[in-house]
Amino acid sequence: MTTLHADRDAESRDSATVSIDAAELGPTEMYVFLRDAVVPRPIAWVSTIDTEGRTNLAPFSFFNVVSPYPPTLGFSCGPRGDNHNSPLRLVKDTLLNIRATGEFVVNLSSASLLDEVVKSSDPLPHEQSEFEHAGLVAVASTRVRPPRVQGVPVAFECRTFDIIEVGVNTWIMGTVVHMHVAPKAYVGSSAELKHRINVLADAGTRPVGRLDRANYTRVGDIELHRRKEGPN
Ligand SMILES: Cc1cc2nc3c(=O)[nH]c(=O)nc-3n(C[C@H](O)[C@H](O)[C@H](O)COP(=O)(O)O)c2cc1C
Repeated sequence: MTTLHADRDAESRDSATVSIDAAELGPTEMYVFLRDAVVPRPIAWVSTIDTEGRTNLAPFSFFNVVSPYPPTLGFSCGPRGDNHNSPLRLVKDTLLNIRATGEFVVNLSSASLLDEVVKSSDPLPHEQSEFEHAGLVAVASTRVRPPRVQGVPVAFECRTFDIIEVGVNTWIMGTVVHMHVAPKAYVGSSAELKHRINVLADAGTRPVGRLDRANYTRVGDIELHRRKEGPN
């Protein structure tokens, strides 16, 4: 019977897996394992400002939506120098600034700005802005002090919701207080739903995904699979 064969094949494939106790891996090895396993990831391109008004920008791909209401985004900030083995909690500028001001902007990455996304991850001295370093235009935000990046599909102005320390990493959550949508990604309002967007509409401003190692993916094939129930 086809089903039985399928079950047996699946079982033998499963017993052939490489089984690993998580405790076997040290912090850096586990970071690499998770980075290379949980793919593709969206990228939060986070802009912040320090108490003296100096801007900062850095990409974070350990990132996602935490809750739609209150609208909450979260990303994980690792230790400065990305040394997960060190017990020292050295703080990246992004976290330093968010702790000092309680504000940040999550800019979605944009296909046409992928080089700039990567360039903005260079470890610059605190005084030097990644906006200038990557040749980006900073646009004033509406409700928060950190500026947003010109040319991204959506920028979310956020106020800190909570900051949770997890080992030497820090999970930063922000409540979205204002959104900016690129004209090409804005659809409009209908009687049922306000402010529909389509961030995939324009190839140039589509967000990119982080894959394993230093690999990235642009949105290519899109398949429609409707759910029988629930929102589509
Ligand atoms: C695409 C991409 C994704 C990244 N994701 C993360 C991440 O999720 N967490 C993290 O701590 N660092 C991440 N980094 C590294 C930071 O961007 C880098 O450490 C940056 O210099 C931090 O800047 P800051 O000190 O100005 O905050 C990523 C880098 C790239 C290029």
